[in-house]
Amino acid sequence: MDMEESGMQANAPSTVLAHWFRAAKSVVVLTGAGMSAESGIPTFRDAQNGLWSRFDPEDLATARAYQQDKALVWGWYVWRMATVRAAQPHAGHLALAELAAIKPSLSIVSQNVDDLHERAGSKEVIHLHGSLFASHCFACGRPHDDVCLPPEAAQKPSLRLMPPRCSHCGGYVRPGVVWFGETLPKLAWRRAERWVTDCDLLVAIGTSGIVFPAASLPSVARHRGTKVVETNPVRTQLSDQVDLSWRSTAGEALSGLLAALKT
Ligand code: OAD
Repeated sequence: MDMEESGMQANAPSTVLAHWFRAAKSVVVLTGAGMSAESGIPTFRDAQNGLWSRFDPEDLATARAYQQDKALVWGWYVWRMATVRAAQPHAGHLALAELAAIKPSLSIVSQNVDDLHERAGSKEVIHLHGSLFASHCFACGRPHDDVCLPPEAAQKPSLRLMPPRCSHCGGYVRPGVVWFGETLPKLAWRRAERWVTDCDLLVAIGTSGIVFPAASLPSVARHRGTKVVETNPVRTQLSDQVDLSWRSTAGEALSGLLAALKT
């Protein structure tokens, strides 16, 4: 850290981050479930909706769970799809889209399976764990576009719902997300690694840093001498490995960064 930077550390996190943001040629923002929390989407490890509270999400988000009890797993995903459909991007999502207008090389690598970044206007977004809205056949893999969400699915969900059938082979439809034990989409992962290798600032927002391989991206950046910043209301697995660990929510941090850049 140079003299100017050691002085910078005494400043507010937003000022330090704004300094690094201005200086960076290329910025990657890694988002996790905490990014969507302020839009009302529960984080992965939060208490789940009442109906599913006795299930560990890691036990529901597997191919094995789906094969054993399709209706239970599909019911959970229908509730998650409906919750996302009913949610709106928050101030942090909007600020992030504005930050990309200031720094066009900014790209987002998201672990989230919702579409809130895109709805806020962000263009360069990779979804490492797939999308809730890219359902496909479990048997033949063909896309299945017309998943029908019951109107009450967000407020009064059903614990169990049978998934629809594929119109090509009659197999059952599954959500387009990456389940535990499955590999990440190759192209998305390669692009994410390239972006992280090429960037000179990585900002990790709202991730616990415990699910690999996404959780390895901050250390890939760090080993290349790239500045790494974390914003999270609590300490995480990443906190000891970063240049700046900012205790703040996603909305507060991203709006704060935007405001600091405008002053
Ligand atoms: P987690 O649920 O593990 O962690 C969410 C993080 O968000 C926690 O560290 C919270 O402290 C933080 N958080 C909560 N509210 C926040 C807020 N308002 N602003 C900022 N941060 C906040 O979610 P991920 O790290 O995304 O994978 O988990 C990674 C992957 O694990 C998920 O993509 C999912 C899950 O298993 C798959 O489904 C494959």
